[in-house]
Amino acid sequence: MRKRLTITSLKKMKQDKNPISMLTAYDYPSAVLAEEAGLDVILVGDSLGNVVLGYDTTIPVTLDDMIYHTRAVARGAKNTFIVTDMPFMTYGIGRESTLRNAARLMQEGGAQALKLEGGTEIASEVGALVKAGIPVMGHIGLTPQSVHQLGGYKVQGKLEKEAEKLMEDAKALEAAGAFAIVLELVTEPIAEAISKELSIPTIGIGAGRGCDGQVLVYHDILQYSSPYIEKKMVKTYADIGSTIRNAISSYVSEVKAGAFPAEEHTFGAKPAAINHLYGGGEAANSSSNQATREESPKRDFVSNHS
Ligand code: KIV
Repeated sequence: MRKRLTITSLKKMKQDKNPISMLTAYDYPSAVLAEEAGLDVILVGDSLGNVVLGYDTTIPVTLDDMIYHTRAVARGAKNTFIVTDMPFMTYGIGRESTLRNAARLMQEGGAQALKLEGGTEIASEVGALVKAGIPVMGHIGLTPQSVHQLGGYKVQGKLEKEAEKLMEDAKALEAAGAFAIVLELVTEPIAEAISKELSIPTIGIGAGRGCDGQVLVYHDILQYSSPYIEKKMVKTYADIGSTIRNAISSYVSEVKAGAFPAEEHTFGAKPAAINHLYGGGEAANSSSNQATREESPKRDFVSNHS
């Protein structure tokens, strides 16, 4: 069984030029599959607001939502390093509240680390969390919780001033004790420069090839939504949305046509039980062939789950 990574091993991966793979997961099955696939880090992202809960932004996501989903992920990926997002306005509002909210995510959710969006303006709270023993991952560039302030989902770091601010934010987070930083929608040269400057790993999403690791959203790499909207920064590795839609459509057709359930999906009964219901008459005889199917090949499943 493989061992869960730690913040020390993640930092060593940067030194060894061993790229870090991170992907979001939001529930038990996605966590199990991600761990089985050999993923380094699971992010329980507040992107669950968009891809699981159907909101337009991550802003409505609550602390309780994050705790609920982190718990499910923690049950499914016991040997994978799990980072959970602190949602909108649960930090940056004073040290005491930030620490209390962070404690709930760690204790009730079961995450190994927390991710916070923002740079210099949250550095002192990042420092307080780290002092309290909570590993913190930073997140700069396009920070979706500030989408209204940023004026939309725009690439960051195209202009001199933006590049300078990104570098300043990254250094402030590292100085505050963050163990890694997500760079979202940052131009490739600026992300590369930041990655070279920092001793902690950078994990890019739409930030090019110079980062120390990559993160994407589970539903994006699997096209697990409808309609699926293409994004330049995403590579899709499977089309699960179409697979699920086609499967459900076949199920609907077969139920309507009476093709499901077929005989192999049904369970027989003992002749005495059938005779009893039919009063031992002709109908009972015609139904007695039901008894021959009593020994279903899936009997163990039935007895365990009934
Ligand atoms: O919430 C999320 O999924 C994220 C990633 C986009 C980095 O923060």
